[in-house]
Amino acid sequence: MTIERSSEEAAPAGPKGGARRRRRRRVVLGVVTVLSLGTLAAIVLPYLGFDPEDSKARLREDVPFHFPLLMTHLLTGSVALLLGPLQFFGPIRRRAPRAHRLIGRVYLLAGVVPSGIAGFGVALLTREGPVAGAGFALLSVFWLVSAGCGYAAVRRRDFRAHERWMRRNFAATFAAVTLRAWLGLLIFAQLPLLEPVYSGEFDALFSVAYTAAAWLCWVPNVLLIEWWVRTNGRAPVGGKAAVRPA
Ligand code: HEM
Repeated sequence: MTIERSSEEAAPAGPKGGARRRRRRRVVLGVVTVLSLGTLAAIVLPYLGFDPEDSKARLREDVPFHFPLLMTHLLTGSVALLLGPLQFFGPIRRRAPRAHRLIGRVYLLAGVVPSGIAGFGVALLTREGPVAGAGFALLSVFWLVSAGCGYAAVRRRDFRAHERWMRRNFAATFAAVTLRAWLGLLIFAQLPLLEPVYSGEFDALFSVAYTAAAWLCWVPNVLLIEWWVRTNGRAPVGGKAAVRPA
């Protein structure tokens, strides 16, 4: 048996502080799960007719595989968004490590990897300009690289590093949620500028919002989780919180 604690479980705290912190983490995880599932439903439903006319992303008419690529990205991305939150529930990790491993494999192999590769392709094809395209392309690279690092860490049985990389990875997955939130916020915030700055052209306003959202949807997530990982995982590994078969 190898005994390993996640940073979540290993954080040092007095009895009161520890209980408060655990409660806070449960609330955050609950909110993240609800937002992931709610956004997933809102994103996927319009595409279930598999009709290019329903696409919210503007398609390239000169690229016949643009829509199939987008659908591949969307369907596999849905697997990642659906399964990702489950991996952070302590009871599943502790009581059903096999389920954690199985869900993790599906999350990576049927979710992040195909969706990240297709996401990179749709980033190169985007009609929203090179700055937005670069934001999404870099997000795809980060998504794939963090998945690779998380997988490599678990193969060498470095569970602490695995957990940290997978937190970073899910921060990128969660960009699907924050993208829609930023987009709504940036459009709304700019509405008073529609006439004076954009001469009534909503497309120009939308384009500015979309370009900014392509970066804001993931850079703050990654910085936030980096801060969290660095301030919450310093306690020595050991204890009986999480038991993994050798
Ligand atoms: C986290 C890494 C992700 C990257 C790098 C990424 C990248 C992209 C890119 C480049 C586009 C095309 C934008 C355009 O042409 O204007 C796009 C659109 C889209 N993505 Fe992702 N995406 C990611 C995650 C996800 C996830 C997890 C889902 C889950 C459902 C998803 C669903 C969609 C959908 C539905 C669209 C079409 C636009 C829309 O309906 O809002 N993406 N994504």
